[in-house]
Amino acid sequence: MTLDAKPLVHVIGLGSMGAILAVDLLRFADCSVVPMFRSKKRLEQFQKDSQSTVGIRKLYLKNSPLIQKKFTLSACPESFTPCAIKNLVVTTKTYQTKESLVPYLPFIDQNTNLILIQNGLGVVEVLKEEVFTDVSKRPQLFQGVISHGCFQDQGFVFNHAGAADLKVSRLPWDEGDMVQTLDDANEDMKNNELIKLFTSKPFAQEFNVKFMTYQELLLGQLYKFLVNACMNSVTAILDCVNGEMVGHCSRVFELIVDESLQVLRLAYKPLFDYEENYSGKDTYPQLKVNSVLNTMDMVKNIENIGCVINGKNSSSMRQDTLYLRDTEIEYINGYIVSLGQRFQVDTKVNKTIQEFVNLRLHLNRRRASMK
Ligand SMILES: NC(=O)c1ccc[n+]([C@@H]2O[C@H](COP(=O)([O-])OP(=O)(O)OC[C@H]3O[C@@H](n4cnc5c(N)ncnc54)[C@H](OP(=O)(O)O)[C@@H]3O)[C@@H](O)[C@H]2O)c1
Repeated sequence: MTLDAKPLVHVIGLGSMGAILAVDLLRFADCSVVPMFRSKKRLEQFQKDSQSTVGIRKLYLKNSPLIQKKFTLSACPESFTPCAIKNLVVTTKTYQTKESLVPYLPFIDQNTNLILIQNGLGVVEVLKEEVFTDVSKRPQLFQGVISHGCFQDQGFVFNHAGAADLKVSRLPWDEGDMVQTLDDANEDMKNNELIKLFTSKPFAQEFNVKFMTYQELLLGQLYKFLVNACMNSVTAILDCVNGEMVGHCSRVFELIVDESLQVLRLAYKPLFDYEENYSGKDTYPQLKVNSVLNTMDMVKNIENIGCVINGKNSSSMRQDTLYLRDTEIEYINGYIVSLGQRFQVDTKVNKTIQEFVNLRLHLNRRRASMK
């Protein structure tokens, strides 16, 4: 595809997250980036209407100019020149992951580095059971938990609204490998092409990338997941901005968090047993798990982070229902429901929340179709 000796990074999902990452990779890391579109039509819109250029406004910087970057390479399933994919970033919505990967499966194998940068949980289960069923060809899997905020302006111009960080770790295929040593993480930083790129300067500083063991990432991921399981779904159902619920949401959050933690404790047992098994062992990072992931503290923190600090925010799931787009509910409260089935725990609260979000979306679509 290219004579360029630089590492090649393919990005599936040039939406908000994909765009800010792809542009900063081009600006600050020594690599070439290839956005991969869902269809010929979308590829042509990018190449012809937008001259293969993405624009980013860094809203959090005063007087920041529109940053524009041209991508000399781009593809879609029909135009992809057969070649092994070495580094693949997936920034589609969770429910789009399988469909987006299928066209490229012949070019992905155990030498491919694949990183998922998405909210929610449950995608790895889909990859295991429905996408990479041949264990010997499973890619090297990584997870990114992103706290940057971004929304699309128009065309391929995006507003990077909040700069925070991108936490990354190797994502184990096998649940038995949930705990990693600090040496495991260092090994990837030294020898894995994608992780070397992600942790290289100046990119790592500009995008605030932190590479860590899986258990460290998982603690942050479950924390963020519980925030989303309350804030995203409840604001979507009620059709409100976050701050409107302040002072009146702790009871419903308590029901969601308490039930979610019951199943998460079973599904991620090695994390919840971590302090007992690994505290004081110097090849493992020290983590406080149970004093962070407990119902009463989480409810207090979610109300404060969600409704007070981000009081003016309209959650992404509420926005999805307002703009009549599918939501990620199956990978948030719906994930708890599927874990409940697996571990035989009753998850009535999360099931009800999931059904109400789907009903809200149905209602909004129905009302829009009658106008
Ligand atoms: N936006 C944020 O501030 C934010 C913050 C934290 C986490 N996240 C998480 O990050 C993930 C991505 O969110 P986002 O906001 O970036 O979503 P997004 O703007 O909707 O971007 C998703 C992109 O994936 C593309 N896509 C879908 N199916 C595809 C396929 N089969 N092949 C190629 N491309 C495909 C879409 O293309 P089309 O335009 O053709 O549909 C779209 O450009 C989500 O899990 C979200 O929860 C987002």
